Amino acid sequence: MAVGTVLVTGGTGYIGSFTTLALLENGYDVVIVDSLYNSSQVAVDRIELICGKRPVFYQVDITDEAALDAVFAKHPEIDSVIHFAALKAVGESGEIPLEYYRVNVGGSISLLRCMERHNVSNIVFSSSATVYGDATRVPNMIPIPEHCPIGPTNTYGRTKVMIETVITDHIEAQRRNNQKAGKPYDHWNGALLRYFNPCGAHPSGIMGEDPQGVPYNLLPLLGKVATGEREKLQVFGDDYPSRDGTAIRDYIHVLDLASGHLAALNYLREHKPGVKAWNLGSGRGSTVFEMIKAFSKVVGRDLPYQVVERRLGDVLDLTANPALANKELKWKTQLTLEDACADLWRWVKNNPKGYRQEPPAELLEA
Ligand code: NAD
Ligand code: WQD
Repeated sequence: MAVGTVLVTGGTGYIGSFTTLALLENGYDVVIVDSLYNSSQVAVDRIELICGKRPVFYQVDITDEAALDAVFAKHPEIDSVIHFAALKAVGESGEIPLEYYRVNVGGSISLLRCMERHNVSNIVFSSSATVYGDATRVPNMIPIPEHCPIGPTNTYGRTKVMIETVITDHIEAQRRNNQKAGKPYDHWNGALLRYFNPCGAHPSGIMGEDPQGVPYNLLPLLGKVATGEREKLQVFGDDYPSRDGTAIRDYIHVLDLASGHLAALNYLREHKPGVKAWNLGSGRGSTVFEMIKAFSKVVGRDLPYQVVERRLGDVLDLTANPALANKELKWKTQLTLEDACADLWRWVKNNPKGYRQEPPAELLEA
């Protein structure tokens, strides 16, 4: 019998597909809802190829509350939700803010309403380190702890802060109402997981990030330079006050991130803490130049780059202090930057068209 059944919104997306895999590998059943706005249903096949179990999949938009409700009604065994579905392009969020608030905030409210109607009371939410904004504006906040003041610098980040607030208000109200009704233990629980910079792919080389649009994150772009799809990487600024002048990020392997979700879900089920935020990062910061070097090493040659102006809205340093998650969730990253680079390169090199092509037979047989 399954340990539990988890509804995963955005489960065919990058982080959602890896978390679905981790859940299935650890005895959970999974029901995915995803609109396929930024992903492919092929991810479901790859999950099954790797672990031998298939999640249930529905093509549902989370802003369609009736359709979402029907999924809960059809699966009364759902006892928890991991909520990934969102729009996530920082630049685009400033151009079409209403759409970002409608999908990210509106979709989350619909989801919470469905959960309430169907008595599902555990939610793990995909937040982001972007909620902290420029943490260097506050003294002594690098590496960034959860109590670092929030201060997002873009619309996407503000949607994440709003959803954190909606979830927190809802859960605290539920607790108060249950206490009044004499049911103090019958309350909701929420994990607000603030991820730093997810990267990497599955070591099998058959599962990885396959966005529908043009990538804008550092490692996927380095992958395109390595395959020759792009001539060179543009380095956004080498005049930051860092060890080599380029900005610092905390890159976390997507497999470690997925296991962080499992740890958070198990913690909610065992400890019923109410609502709480945890950073999911390695605690180790790397500069852009260090990333170019690490990726060039696995590719086996120097990758061309050119230093250009700083990118608008970028900050100097986003390195996590993951001590709280290490202690409470008994979780910490296991994989290195080198693992992430090697796994990403295996994925990119073998699947230049992502899920739009079959992987090489030798990888499928392995
Ligand atoms: P992704 O785009 O690969 O996954 C998101 C999934 O949600 C996609 O499969 C997409 O089709 C789906 N989706 C979008 N709108 C939907 C809707 N209205 N209804 C149903 N499904 C919808 O992105 P990801 O990198 O896997 O990110 C997952 C979550 O983690 C997002 O909430 C994102 O904001 C958050 N996050 C991502 C990063 C990152 O760098 N990748 C960092 C921090 C937080
Ligand atoms: C990393 C570093 C760039 C591209 C974004 C979102 C954040 C989160 C993760 C969702 C930066 C530099 C990049 C390039 C470069 N997503 N860079 N040349 O900006 O840290 O975070 O993704 O929640 O909210 O903002 O990630 O991968 O874009 O950049 O020099 O072509 O690489 O300046 O220092 P970022 P990134």
